[in-house]
Amino acid sequence: MTELRQTGKPAPVPVASQQQKAIRIMIRAKQLTRQFEQKGRRNAPVDAVTTVDFSVEAGELIGFLGPNGAGKTTTLRMLTTLLRPTSGEATVAGCDLLTDPGGVRKRIGYVAQGHGTSPESTVAEELAFQGGLHRLTKKAARQRAAELAGELGLAGLERRLTRTLSGGQRRRLDLAMGLIHKPNLVFLDEPTTGLDPQSRANLWDHIRRLRAEKGTTIFLTTHYLNEADELCDRILVMDGGRLIAEGAPHSLKAQVAGDSVTVGVTAEGVAATREAVQRIADAYDVSASRDQVHFRVPHAHRVLPGLLRALDAAAVTTTSLLVSRPTLDDVFLHLTGRTLQDGGGPVFTTEEADARAAV
Ligand SMILES: Nc1ncnc2c1ncn2[C@@H]1O[C@H](COP(=O)(O)OP(=O)(O)O)[C@@H](O)[C@H]1O
Ligand SMILES: [Mg+2]
Repeated sequence: MTELRQTGKPAPVPVASQQQKAIRIMIRAKQLTRQFEQKGRRNAPVDAVTTVDFSVEAGELIGFLGPNGAGKTTTLRMLTTLLRPTSGEATVAGCDLLTDPGGVRKRIGYVAQGHGTSPESTVAEELAFQGGLHRLTKKAARQRAAELAGELGLAGLERRLTRTLSGGQRRRLDLAMGLIHKPNLVFLDEPTTGLDPQSRANLWDHIRRLRAEKGTTIFLTTHYLNEADELCDRILVMDGGRLIAEGAPHSLKAQVAGDSVTVGVTAEGVAATREAVQRIADAYDVSASRDQVHFRVPHAHRVLPGLLRALDAAAVTTTSLLVSRPTLDDVFLHLTGRTLQDGGGPVFTTEEADARAAV
């Protein structure tokens, strides 16, 4: 695995409950591995997830990023006890995944990819049913449902059939159902896939607030780069069943790609500009054209003032300055040689595989 560790710690957040105070590490996965047999190809199992190691601290908001077929859902299903690992182990919310799956289930919330609600039930019925699954009394479930409806912008929709809700409302209902028992740790599988940009931003706000106000640890999968970038403290990058990098979005981008700087100058200033850039210790990929000098550097803001002073002293006239920050797609491209949008060449997704298996 590429050695990219988080440099900055996330801001401290309130913890969800007394019980969580004792748990500093919410998830510790060790060598987690899952293979799937392929029908008719006995000796060619699919390596969906291979020796994945990572830890998540209480209160972190983690993005599990990777193209379709990377192994995100399979990892989530193992960590939420729905799928037994082929090998490896994990502790989740303080409980051992293999020996105490019941303990894990009690302490976590899981919002699966796609919708978990039944179309002919009302919002209130779905929440009451979910409360029952977690052994809340009817009264406690009703109170909790009202509380969640307020928090997640579902108030007034209690009598609506779930099939009449908008995509964003349905996703917020899925989230409410995953939170009914006040879990300290929530897994969200592609929470915003298929939502329009406005509903996506709205769901991000709810997720941020859940972490800020309740201290809930949130582990979400996504293939949206900007979602991982804007929302998450730390990103785990999956590809082909393996964890290939981890770190805070800014440190991943700084370490892998660096900022790109283009200085526009008059033709007679190009040589002096090139020399000044070459004196910057950590500048690389320096190139020059007729009226521009281009280079990359880990942190442009640290070197630009000095560069501009040097150009001034050398009487070079600068005509433009363009700094562009790398994106997470640059990071993925650097690590894999492909862009995330190209995808990882999945055979099919977990859900499709399940559907096929059921036929
Ligand atoms: N039940 C299954 N049977 C066979 N292959 C599966 C099954 N579930 C997932 N896979 C395969 O495992 C790989 C990882 O899938 P998945 O975890 O769904 O990826 P992601 O969620 O990142 O899109 C894919 O190649 C997928 O086809
Ligand atoms: Mg998936």
